[in-house]
Amino acid sequence: MNLKELRDAALKEVLGAKNLEELEKLEIKYLGRKGELTEILRGLKDMAEDERKKIGNFANQLKYELDGMIEKKRKELGKSLEAVKEWIDITAPGKKLPAGHLHPRTQVMRQVEKIFQSLGFSVIDGPELETDYYNFEALRIPKDHPARDMQDTFYINDNLLLRTQTSPNQVRYMEKHNPPLRVIVPGKCFRRDSTDASHEVQFYQVEGLMVDKNISVASFKSVISAFLKQFFNREVKTRLRPSFFPFTEPSFELDMECLICDGKGCSVCKDTGWLEVIPGGMVHPFVFKSAGYSPYEWQGYAFGMGLDRMVMMKYKINDVRLLNFGDMRFLKQF
Ligand code: DAH
Repeated sequence: MNLKELRDAALKEVLGAKNLEELEKLEIKYLGRKGELTEILRGLKDMAEDERKKIGNFANQLKYELDGMIEKKRKELGKSLEAVKEWIDITAPGKKLPAGHLHPRTQVMRQVEKIFQSLGFSVIDGPELETDYYNFEALRIPKDHPARDMQDTFYINDNLLLRTQTSPNQVRYMEKHNPPLRVIVPGKCFRRDSTDASHEVQFYQVEGLMVDKNISVASFKSVISAFLKQFFNREVKTRLRPSFFPFTEPSFELDMECLICDGKGCSVCKDTGWLEVIPGGMVHPFVFKSAGYSPYEWQGYAFGMGLDRMVMMKYKINDVRLLNFGDMRFLKQF
């Protein structure tokens, strides 16, 4: 075989190699220690001067060319090998990504909002950073009033604080809107309490306010009973007990029968069969005056439901801190 034929054959074979193994065999066949081209190159030294020059030149060029071709082919075959590794089976069933869901408190919050909306209430929002005026003074709790002791407060300065209740939104809303009105204000509140199974420095309230003519305690009781029935999906017995809040007169606590023991008495209701769930009362004339309403013309009731308590009762959770820990073992259950 002369060199020209060798070149044609070698290039043809290399170009036709179907995989890396075949290519390697060809490399050995032509360029290996005993390869065909190597043999020729090795034989050069026995050749006459001008033949050696001619053949040597050509053979060396061929070696160089063949080397390049093999390298190029090797890369090509390697790439297609990678392509095989990346191959995707589009018929395989998809991988399920873990989907999150709403926090139980958010779920309950939305449910509460929906129920009150069905009863004609609008849902509004108010600031968490509140002024001393709206949080206390406008609600008939002046600076040195002992009622401030019931709400250990995070003060930012003399004038600003983290709201201890959603009640400041009563006056905030009434200042900007004319009666009659029905609103709820869900939101986060803060108190400098030490933490235990039923207290957290952060908690949620849902404020409620209805103002109209001829509003009575009976209106309050009927709306709350309708709410509880929808919320717990069953008839729930309620009772009103007298209480005190500076911004309502009369003030009361609305208790509901303990759903854990059906009113028979258990550790959750401290053997009374009743649970204190919604404090409220008839809006004090002072509050109407703070908002610029005439207390002779309008009446209303207000309440401040503890949302975390409602979540705990709905799902029978015995420690409020679970709602804030972010423990997935807990959260995944909802
Ligand atoms: N804001 C009160 C609290 O956090 C609860 C409350 C009582 C709200 C009576 C009211 C109300 O609107 O009328 O203790």
